[in-house]
Amino acid sequence: MIYKLTYESDACVPFEKLGVDAILASARDHNKILNITGCLVYHNGAFVQILEGEKEEVHKLFKSIEKDPRHANVRLVSEEYDKKRSFSNWNMAYFDTSLEGLSKSDIENFERNLLMLAEFSDRLSTTVNMFWLNVRKVMLNLKLA
Ligand SMILES: Cc1cc2nc3c(=O)[nH]c(=O)nc-3n(C[C@H](O)[C@H](O)[C@H](O)COP(=O)(O)O)c2cc1C
Repeated sequence: MIYKLTYESDACVPFEKLGVDAILASARDHNKILNITGCLVYHNGAFVQILEGEKEEVHKLFKSIEKDPRHANVRLVSEEYDKKRSFSNWNMAYFDTSLEGLSKSDIENFERNLLMLAEFSDRLSTTVNMFWLNVRKVMLNLKLA
């Protein structure tokens, strides 16, 4: 079984100063060693990230990500075991909603899903799974993945 953890956070510095490319480059190297896959989404100054792998490794990584001063207000959304990974081909996929090519309805759909995620309180994994399924679908459509 694969352990999946999803959290949300707010970026602390303006996007240009975040150095997302550097975060991703080191995250991908590091995650590969830990056999962790996942996806990082950036939307309107906020992050949503899913980490998938062995429970202990995912927790350890999350503890270190939580302390990262580049973001704050880190909220755990869900933790669960699943049969398979959602992002098996990516040590850390990245999706920025301001990227060219995203249609108005893609954005609207994304924001609806994000709201559902924020209201997620029933401890059911359906909402979170739907959110990541949609992210994957949009990324595949845009040939980002
Ligand atoms: C939004 C965000 C997502 C991150 N995702 C990862 C990640 O998936 N893997 C990773 O190794 N580091 C990630 N980092 C960087 C970690 O917070 C941290 O800098 C890195 O693990 C090195 O930690 P260390 O200095 O304690 O070794 C992320 C940072 C931010 C701000």
